[in-house]
Amino acid sequence: MDLNITRVLFSEEEIQKKVKELAQIIEKDFAGEDIFVIGVLKGSFIFVSDLIRQFTSKVELDFMSLSSYGMSTKSSGVVKITKDLDLSIEGKNVLIVEDIIDTGLTMDYLTQYLVNKGCKQVRICTLLDKPTKRKSQVSADYVGFEIEDLFVVGYGIDCKEMYRNLPYIGYVEV
Ligand code: IMP
Ligand code: MG
Repeated sequence: MDLNITRVLFSEEEIQKKVKELAQIIEKDFAGEDIFVIGVLKGSFIFVSDLIRQFTSKVELDFMSLSSYGMSTKSSGVVKITKDLDLSIEGKNVLIVEDIIDTGLTMDYLTQYLVNKGCKQVRICTLLDKPTKRKSQVSADYVGFEIEDLFVVGYGIDCKEMYRNLPYIGYVEV
């Protein structure tokens, strides 16, 4: 199978180490309070699964799905909720868990949306951050790795719905 991957950016071991570090920092910041985790589908599904298993505090979990890319590799800039929350976040300490922040338009839209739903606070944890393409003011509270403007796949992250199953994060030529 030709995966078109020219290099591994982050190995499985590097990712697992980073997830543990992030979980420790996040738990310390939340200071023993319950954490309401929102996993942003589908890209964060593996990251959120690994991350929450490192938490020792009480955790609630819900998922949302937003689309700004469609089947393209470039953001359309128009964010749409395709799966809303099932649970109430009123008064909760929300931690958004995202795979990648690129333009920031998705996170900008989502944080506004959640604040309007009456949560106590919203923090953002992203595994990858691509600051060079930012079009909004949003910044993550917790960042796994900062990367340049590459199209990456693996560890839950897709290119046209493929490669999510790779245990590492790689760079794909498009
Ligand atoms: P933003 O609104 O431009 O910040 O879009 C971020 C979303 O675009 C992420 O949640 C990903 O789903 C997707 N995305 C951004 N960069 C990549 C990439 O390199 N590979 C796969 N998906 C990406
Ligand atoms: Mg995403």
